[in-house]
Amino acid sequence: MLFDYHARVLFFLSLALASVVAQTHGVGTLFIFTPGLGACGFANTSAQTVASVSKPVFTGYPGATSNPNKNPICTHRLLIKSGLKNLTVPIVDFFVDTDVNKVGVSLPGFLHFGTEDDGVIPNVTWSVV
Ligand SMILES: *[C@@H]1O[C@H](CO)[C@@H](O)[C@H](O)[C@H]1NC(C)=O
Ligand SMILES: *[C@@H]1O[C@H](CO)[C@@H](O)[C@H](O)[C@H]1NC(C)=O
Ligand SMILES: *[C@@H]1O[C@H](CO)[C@@H](O)[C@H](O)[C@H]1NC(C)=O
Repeated sequence: MLFDYHARVLFFLSLALASVVAQTHGVGTLFIFTPGLGACGFANTSAQTVASVSKPVFTGYPGATSNPNKNPICTHRLLIKSGLKNLTVPIVDFFVDTDVNKVGVSLPGFLHFGTEDDGVIPNVTWSVV
């Protein structure tokens, strides 16, 4: 059964790829994310404290399908730590950047760690919780 064999190979290959791609924590750079109608299907504003992760982190999240609105990551939050400070923020979107160690938070959340003039904050630890 050639078809069956190929189906099995593809199945195990996709499992292997999923386990390589799925990244739920890291150390990287925090930037100021401007929310709007995001991948999770929520319409958020810059007055709200919401987070964005890289496309590979979003699409590789366990349970993700082709419908981003139904991605289980949308029911999770991003814990961001910088030095002694931390913040836990709902994940609402992804950004089109393959740097999995970057994370975004809207301005109210960013101001918890620095000033708008800082632009970015390096060396933050993040995890999907
Ligand atoms: C983001 O927008 C949705 C509505 O689309 C709303 O239910 C949710 O509370 C907003 N998130 C925050 C943190 O305000
Ligand atoms: C990065 O952050 C970690 C944890 O807060 C800290 O131990 C380390 O010294 C920091 N590294 C730099 C280069 O700031
Ligand atoms: C977040 O910060 C608060 C206040 O400093 C601290 O009590 C708490 O343990 C921290 N949580 C994490 C997960 O680092």
